[in-house]
Amino acid sequence: MTTATAHPNIALIKYWGKQDAPGNIPVAPNVSITLSNLTTTTAISEHDRDEFWLNAEQVVDTKLEGFLADLRREFTIAPVKIESTNNFPTGAGLASSASGFAALITALNHHAKMRLDVATMSQWARRGSASAARSLMCGYVSLTPPAWRAEQVAAPAHWPLHVVVAVTSTVPKAIGSTDGMRISRDTSPYFPAWVATGASDFDDAVQAIAARDFDKLAAAAELSCLKMHSVMLTSVPTLAYWNPATVACMDAIRSLRAAGTAVFFSIDAGPQVKAICLPQHTDAVEQVLGQIEGVRETIRCALGDAAQVIRP
Ligand code: DP6
Repeated sequence: MTTATAHPNIALIKYWGKQDAPGNIPVAPNVSITLSNLTTTTAISEHDRDEFWLNAEQVVDTKLEGFLADLRREFTIAPVKIESTNNFPTGAGLASSASGFAALITALNHHAKMRLDVATMSQWARRGSASAARSLMCGYVSLTPPAWRAEQVAAPAHWPLHVVVAVTSTVPKAIGSTDGMRISRDTSPYFPAWVATGASDFDDAVQAIAARDFDKLAAAAELSCLKMHSVMLTSVPTLAYWNPATVACMDAIRSLRAAGTAVFFSIDAGPQVKAICLPQHTDAVEQVLGQIEGVRETIRCALGDAAQVIRP
């Protein structure tokens, strides 16, 4: 049995929309931070047929089946039992598919002796779920053309930001990212503007990271998040992922920042709010978010490790 771990990542500049080509090629470059503390652990063992277990329940997962079928066109992989557990809510906008495919390719690479380097594993993870490409690495990680594999923009030690996740619901989302992106591309009148401005938002964020310019990163990241949600909300059917507590958290984070706390928000395809802050402000941010009605739990994260094999 081979066991690997990977952590979710939070996109500071979001990926929302695919090019018209196979392999989950994003419409624009994106950049994320890989988190600590939230972890997917995936064990692979030989079996008489493929079986997938998620959080101790057997599941049928067509994305996973397709991913394995693609891999088997290039590598010899005998039937496997894949047992994956998340120590955080699955499918509720906490990027479980990112850490899931990153942990899976890392474990499979070792188990099936595929001998892939991290960059190539990242490209394979992208074919499972594009955000997963970024969870192969630690720190600040970009996913950019032309190869569309993850690259580390900066190590965690360059700027050790913290993240407080405010969990406002643990119900799995009604429309997942893959379907949501297709709906947005086909129906939102704002989608072309989102694509056209993606590269300059990305450049702003990467410059801000290099210069450790918190205000610049806050502005770029919140703008990218709000643009993505504008596209989602103007899709038909509408993709409305926020609940009242989500909005209350955004307001609280804006008020904190106006009062001098270095914090900004990010929200993905779900109602959880991620507050990204300087470490000296983590206690204050967690205290404020924890008191908001509808916030069920807060989780503190630092910047986490790359995906890795923990038991060969
Ligand atoms: C909102 O990577 O889950 O979290 O490639 O279709 O599997 P697929 O989508 P996925 O989408 C992530 C979308 C996001 C933004 C982001 O992580 O960049």
